[in-house]
Amino acid sequence: MNITKDIFYVGVNDHQVDLFEGQYVVPNGMAYNSYVILDEKTAVMDTVDQRFGEEWLGNVSAALAGRKPDYLVVQHMEPDHSANVSRFLSVYPEAVVVASAKAFTMMKQFFGTDYADRRIVATEGSTLTLGKHTLTFVTAPMVHWPEVIVTYDACDKVLFSADGFGKFGALDAQEDWACEARRYYIGIVGKYGAQVQALLKKAAKLDIATICPLHGPVLTENLGYYLNLYDIWSSYRAESEGIVIAYCSIYGHTKEAVELLAKTLTEKGCTKVTVTDLARDDMAEAVEDAFRYNKLVLASPTYNTDVFPFMKSFIHHLTERNYQNRTVAFMENGTWAPNAAKVMASMLEKSKNLTYAGTTVRILSALNEDSRTQIQALAEELVK
Ligand code: FEO
Repeated sequence: MNITKDIFYVGVNDHQVDLFEGQYVVPNGMAYNSYVILDEKTAVMDTVDQRFGEEWLGNVSAALAGRKPDYLVVQHMEPDHSANVSRFLSVYPEAVVVASAKAFTMMKQFFGTDYADRRIVATEGSTLTLGKHTLTFVTAPMVHWPEVIVTYDACDKVLFSADGFGKFGALDAQEDWACEARRYYIGIVGKYGAQVQALLKKAAKLDIATICPLHGPVLTENLGYYLNLYDIWSSYRAESEGIVIAYCSIYGHTKEAVELLAKTLTEKGCTKVTVTDLARDDMAEAVEDAFRYNKLVLASPTYNTDVFPFMKSFIHHLTERNYQNRTVAFMENGTWAPNAAKVMASMLEKSKNLTYAGTTVRILSALNEDSRTQIQALAEELVK
C-alpha cells in the first residue's frame, strides 16, 4: 500500500490479541504499523509485535522490491513495535539502526546488545538524508515512553508520529476513529498530557499533510480535527457536555438509586447521561467517558469501611491520569456505617480544579424518602 510515491505501508493486523498491553480489550484487534521509505537510501520505520515477524518481514521485502534496507528507524521500544528489531538486524546484517540514546539502552536490556558498531543516535533536530527525503527526528519523551522520537519527512510532509494519533482496532475493521482513539489515548497516554502538549507545540511548526502513526489508520485529511482532539485530551478539558454515573452495586440497591438519578436527569432535560457498572463494563471505556464528559457521579457501597474494590480501582485510574477540571458528585450506600463518600472524596483530594456538588446522596441499605429527595436535589444541581 502506497502512502506517497516513495512511502509504503508494511504493517500487520492482529486479530488474535486477547488483551492489548496486557489489559485492554480490543474487540476489533490491533494494527502494528510499519513503513518503508524508498529513496537513494532505504529506511524501514519500526517493526511489529513478536508474533507477526514473518508476515512483516515478507511485507518489508515486498516493498523493498529486491533492494536492501539501509536503515531501521526505531522510534519506540515498547515490544508491540520493537520485538522484531533483533530479528530484522540479523536478516539484514548491513542495515544501520537509528534510535535515541535511551532506546539503545533499552535494546541492550531487551536484546543483550546496543548495536554499538552499527548505529546512529538520533537527537532533537538531528537529520538523516536518504536522498530527496531528509528525516528530521523530534524527541517526544513520555509519549508514551521516555525514549520515543517522532520523525518528520519534509519532502512528502509526513509525520511519523509513533504512538501519537494511534487507536485500538485493526485496519481491516470499519469503526469510528474518535471512539477507539480516545479510549486508546486516555488509557495509554492519558497521564502524559504535558508531554503531549509539548509535542503538539513542536508539531505546530511543521507543514504536515499526512500522519503515519504506529497504530490505527494513516491520517491524510482534515488533520485539524485530530490535532484539536489531541489538544483537548492532553489539556484535560472536557470534550463534551454530559454526565457519567459510574457505580458499583452488591445487591442492586445502589444500582436502583443510580437508575433513579439517570431517569431524573433525563426528565430534567439532560441529553447525555452515561451509566456504567464498574464491575461488569469495560473499565477503560468508563475511564474514557470520565475524561470525555464534564460531570461525574461516583456511586459506591461502603465495603470494609472503604469503597467497593472496582470503585477504588476506577478512581485510581482517574487520579493516575491527572483527572481534573470536572464536576464530581458522590452517592454512598451503607447498612451500618456509611463511609464511601468520604473515602471517594479523599481519593480525589489531590486532583486539580474539581468542583463538588453540594448534595451527597446517602442510601441506608435501600432507597427511602430521604434518599429519593437527595437524588432529586442532586439531579437539580447537576442540570444547572
Ligand atoms: Fe504501541 Fe507505546 O506502544
